[in-house]
Amino acid sequence: MDKQAERLQKVIAHSGVTSRRKAETMILEGKVKVNGKVVKELGVKVTSNDSVEVNGIPLEKEKSVYYMLYKPRGVISSVQDEKDRRVVLDLMPEVTERVYPIGRLDYDTSGLLLLTNDGEFANMLMHPSQKIDKVYVAKVKGIPSPEELKQLKRGVMIDGHKCKAVYTKLMSADRKKNTSLVQIILHEGRNRQVRKMMESIQYPVQKLKRERFGFLTLEGLQPGAHRKLTPEEVHRIKKEYKEK
Ligand code: URA
Repeated sequence: MDKQAERLQKVIAHSGVTSRRKAETMILEGKVKVNGKVVKELGVKVTSNDSVEVNGIPLEKEKSVYYMLYKPRGVISSVQDEKDRRVVLDLMPEVTERVYPIGRLDYDTSGLLLLTNDGEFANMLMHPSQKIDKVYVAKVKGIPSPEELKQLKRGVMIDGHKCKAVYTKLMSADRKKNTSLVQIILHEGRNRQVRKMMESIQYPVQKLKRERFGFLTLEGLQPGAHRKLTPEEVHRIKKEYKEK
């Protein structure tokens, strides 16, 4: 992977100087230089090798930070919501860096969500070539047979794509209530993928939780709580999932 190129206004906003909107205005007003030259277009992309100046002052790069959040249900995996619903950043009020989620969990899905302000790190983890286990536990209506669960490993068509589970397992079944708990491990991360895959074999998901992301688990965290990744964890992720 090349050094990650990002839009100039995003880089300015991430550095903490101003909002993305205001950064756009400043670019248009000719107040921003890249490698010593004024840039007045909004489409320009820069990498961490480029030097950016705003009003003649070089951008200081914000220190990279990495968090794990136990996202509860009923919270949106984004940094702001146009309808003013609760978003994940509302759960991390003391975090002053401009972090954003790496991928997303649905509003109604709980579980492990990573957040960072390190664009290269986020892009590395979201790159489709990565084979990172994302382990989900789904409470479903009905009790799928081993053969039906195998079908998910062979692959099911969803929105024109063949989606495959890496692993599936019936963990428990409640015959009286006609519900069950299914573990499903994915490498892909398509929109509502677990829900759509279970629906495709006629077992609608009632509750969904992501329990693990790679080697990271939620151990020690309550729903709604977060912690910083340790330097060792960050190092291990970078080593295991470095550019493919
Ligand atoms: N699959 C889903 O259906 N929802 C999620 O939030 C994550 C994976």
